[in-house]
Amino acid sequence: MKQKIVINDAYYPHLTNYARTQIFYGGSSSGKSWFLAQRCVLDVLAGGRNYLVCRQVARTIRTSVFQQIERVIREAGLLSYFQINKSDMSMTCTNGYQILFAGLDDVEKIKSIVPAVGVITDVWVEEATESERGDVKDLYKRQRGGDEQTPKRMILSFNPILQSHWIYAEWFAAVAWADDQKEHNDGELSILKTTYKDNKYLTSQDRHDLENEKDKYRYNVYTLGNWGILGHVIFTNWRVEDLSGMIDQFTNHRNGLDFGFSVDPSALWRAHYERQNKRIYLYAELYERGLTNDKLADAIRPIIGDEPVCCDSAEPKSIEELRGYGISAYPARKGRDSVLQGIQWMQQQEIIIDKNCVNAKTEISTYHWLEDAGGNAILKPVGTNDHLIAAGRYAHEQDMQDTWYMS
Ligand SMILES: Nc1ncnc2c1ncn2[C@@H]1O[C@H](COP(=O)(O)OP(=O)(O)OP(=O)(O)O)[C@@H](O)[C@H]1O
Ligand SMILES: [Mg+2]
Repeated sequence: MKQKIVINDAYYPHLTNYARTQIFYGGSSSGKSWFLAQRCVLDVLAGGRNYLVCRQVARTIRTSVFQQIERVIREAGLLSYFQINKSDMSMTCTNGYQILFAGLDDVEKIKSIVPAVGVITDVWVEEATESERGDVKDLYKRQRGGDEQTPKRMILSFNPILQSHWIYAEWFAAVAWADDQKEHNDGELSILKTTYKDNKYLTSQDRHDLENEKDKYRYNVYTLGNWGILGHVIFTNWRVEDLSGMIDQFTNHRNGLDFGFSVDPSALWRAHYERQNKRIYLYAELYERGLTNDKLADAIRPIIGDEPVCCDSAEPKSIEELRGYGISAYPARKGRDSVLQGIQWMQQQEIIIDKNCVNAKTEISTYHWLEDAGGNAILKPVGTNDHLIAAGRYAHEQDMQDTWYMS
């Protein structure tokens, strides 16, 4: 049966919004990605517009935004109008216009990407908080040329993880954005804030989970869609850099692995450690759900080869299986208070995170202490979104031992 494209009310006016920069942000499951996928399909179908859809890391596109756009096309009964090519990551409409995809970490592809007809009119950066300012700014240049009459659009979508993020300074501070505001549009810049309440297609389970979120920070950001503010942040001793030019010189590797499957991701931390100046260069990560141990082995082998990797000791069977697949996996010793001790040790290091380790950036920047009823921090970190941090604790277990032994 042929289905229609039905747009959630809050987004409807934005079908014909041509502001140069467009921000769609807010709580999770608010229908942002779905709407932008719908608009993208409708625009390309109408002709005259080509889309470049980006995320920071190319390998995350296939299972997220590419899949979502494909679903919109399929559910709208439009498959016969699009040629969907998974290997070169493109969707070509029968009218010649295209939806192209690229990771900002694939610098060469980004530079050389050209649609079959016309120019790229729309750039959509999904999960834009993953990306650095300079990289997003460079994207505006990809839209040069073409017909001056056809408006160009830069579209950003994301959850507002931290008010200290560059996106806030760049576009929200400039228009004196208030958290209780829903919209702004001055023709040049448009901002739309949505929450799960704006999505009538939400399942009751999702609604229930969002309404019952216990952590104050997560409730504020993911349920209410407000910019995140952390009172009791755990790590401030980190910064983001482009480490691509240094990786060849890294020799003192540390690998740690936290197991996950459906809800929690499997998380791998790979760093170079400089003991003298207590510097951790975190330069590769894996963060993926749904990996059985054979697939997990396939995913981490290209990253760590046959180097040892210290794993969560709670899953001896997984460690054994990984060993069977040729990974030098061994269990962490953990020990009493290992979480707090690990945090304390990590706080004493200087952590330099590669700009493509997007999940580590998010975890490290938002890791925080829980609060008691009076709003005071207690010595217990939030137990969610700490998978790479756990992997980091395992990776540096021996370094921690050495530090304490020497002091
Ligand atoms: N117009 C729609 N028609 C049908 N289903 C929809 C529509 N809008 C949203 N949905 C459903 O709601 C789900 C959540 O929407 P979506 O993924 O767009 O949220 P989001 O705001 O991007 O969330 P997040 O911040 O977590 O990325 C979608 O996976 C889809 O199943
Ligand atoms: Mg989304």
